[in-house]
Amino acid sequence: MVRSAPLTLCGSLSRHPVTLGMRMHQAGYAALGLPFAYVPFAVDDLAGALAGMRALGIRGLGVSMPFKRDVLPLLDRIDDLAARIGAVNTIVNEEGLLAGYNTDASGARRALEEVLEPAGRRAVLIGAGGAAHAVAYALCAARMRVHVVNRTRAKAEDLAGALCRTFGASSVATAGGLEDLADLGGADALVNCSSAGMAEYGSDSPVPETALRPGLVVMDIVYKPLETRLLEAARGRGCRVVHGGRMLLHQACGQFELYTGQPAPVGAMEAALASAIGSTSSA
Ligand SMILES: NC(=O)c1ccc[n+]([C@@H]2O[C@H](COP(=O)([O-])OP(=O)(O)OC[C@H]3O[C@@H](n4cnc5c(N)ncnc54)[C@H](OP(=O)(O)O)[C@@H]3O)[C@@H](O)[C@H]2O)c1
Repeated sequence: MVRSAPLTLCGSLSRHPVTLGMRMHQAGYAALGLPFAYVPFAVDDLAGALAGMRALGIRGLGVSMPFKRDVLPLLDRIDDLAARIGAVNTIVNEEGLLAGYNTDASGARRALEEVLEPAGRRAVLIGAGGAAHAVAYALCAARMRVHVVNRTRAKAEDLAGALCRTFGASSVATAGGLEDLADLGGADALVNCSSAGMAEYGSDSPVPETALRPGLVVMDIVYKPLETRLLEAARGRGCRVVHGGRMLLHQACGQFELYTGQPAPVGAMEAALASAIGSTSSA
């Protein structure tokens, strides 16, 4: 049994130390004067780390890949959307029971909602990896129709099929290859959830510039760099753009709310993120 502590401890579990989350969460605690502290833990032994979470009464832990999937069988309870996505990025210690949530999904939804009311709209979503799963489920849960395109088409088909089964209508999601990006048809939003555009993968935009038209919402979840070639081209063509810092911010705000039970001080957390990765205001 853990006795009452002067500080509530939260943190993150990853293979290598990451500090972006710590900066945002600590700025949030300071803004609200909460007696919370945040430690980014670099771990190899996930099961051991969760035993430590229970024994020490750690309130919340963020998890990154590959732990987002590996953690599922180790938890006591998994939120419905996280279970459907098949990934957890947030663990909350609820009186000794470890519950898993996915705030990547809610963060992506909040980031998109800053510029577009999603219900009834159509999105083209690029990618079929871990992040694409979270975003695709979030968009369908927000009643968008989603066309998933991926370099490996079979993975797009698997994701679209799973979305249709989950949301109970065959029209919820369709699938295709990257060639579909030449003509975005009547899409209201284009969301890049692939790694294309990341500096370390060569920065190229996955979308032909001619497919971008004024008024289209273009969201890129890549945040290294914040201004990807896709967003640069989209801006030039009169699109409304949302960069990856918005999802990063809102997924952290979602975690903060789960850990503290209080509305996140978005401005303070945004300032902390901006000082780490550059301006994060929506465009
Ligand atoms: N903003 C945020 O809060 C946030 C959160 C999570 C992730 N992310 C970012 O999201 C991106 C994807 O992460 P992930 O975890 O989903 O990675 P992942 O599971 O490895 O999936 C990568 C996806 O990108 C596709 N891809 C890779 N290189 C490509 C290229 N050159 N052209 C077209 N498609 C390509 C892959 O296609 P194949 O299936 O054909 O391999 C796959 O669909 C990363 O940049 C990550 O930093 C951002």
